[in-house]
Amino acid sequence: MTNSNTAPHPGESFSEYRERLRALGVKMPTEKMIKTPKEIEGCREAGRINSLVLDRVEREISVGMSTADIDAIVVSELSALGATSATLGYEGFPASVCTSVNSVICHGIPSRNEILREGDIINVDCTSVYGGYFGDASRMFSFGKISDSARRLIGVTREAVEMCVAAIKPYETRLGDIGHIINSHAKKNGFSVVREIGGHGVGLAMHEDPFVCHTGLPGRGLLLVPGMIFTVEPMINEGRARFYIDQKDGWTVRTLDGKLSAQIEYELLVTESGVEILSK
Ligand code: MF3
Ligand code: CO
Ligand code: CO
Repeated sequence: MTNSNTAPHPGESFSEYRERLRALGVKMPTEKMIKTPKEIEGCREAGRINSLVLDRVEREISVGMSTADIDAIVVSELSALGATSATLGYEGFPASVCTSVNSVICHGIPSRNEILREGDIINVDCTSVYGGYFGDASRMFSFGKISDSARRLIGVTREAVEMCVAAIKPYETRLGDIGHIINSHAKKNGFSVVREIGGHGVGLAMHEDPFVCHTGLPGRGLLLVPGMIFTVEPMINEGRARFYIDQKDGWTVRTLDGKLSAQIEYELLVTESGVEILSK
């Protein structure tokens, strides 16, 4: 951007640019964090497919269903689209989607015994593999009459992600800005942000560098440049940010205080003019 003192100079190669900014103390992405045009095309397609899977969940999810039924919908849609799940078998994860209900922060495992009831909120997080590329996004759903606090929590989470999308400027925005935007918005509304679990680079694998923390200091951290693909997926808690991992399954992340948690995940590509949402 022309008003940024971290922009490349006219005629400067990317490696010259990177070294110049490094010398100024700016954290710069590695070569691997910047996708080639061919990789971007593959990721765009995988992201589109991933959103189609979430669209199908959105059409069919309803009260009385089990979270295992959501898994079945995802399996069916992935197969119809010629894609596969990145989570099934990932470090032993036993399902094709994560379903995180109420006080579950993330990585909930679909179950026959978990029935969706009026008043529940749920995050459905899908990671698809298509043509060798990975797409990753998640949405929130709720059923019937939910508490005012739950409605606000979901709204603030959505706003936080949208504020990041609106803020990202190539060669100017830093990862710390992203964290700062999210955490400030959550705090202002009386909510808290999980720090230890975050977003990530994505594309040739489900989880790549960099780690995207949802808290941070403005003007700090990695500089965002065109070709970077990463997720923003804040987990915002109604109460305290503290959590524990369920020792019975080794995966389910729950709030320590038993209060609600919401999460919304977008997969973003940094472009020359701003940002493109690859999956949401
Ligand atoms: N989709 C999740 C993310 O956004 C990762 C799930 S890994 C799993 O990063 F093993 F829990 F499925
Ligand atoms: Co995800
Ligand atoms: Co993710």
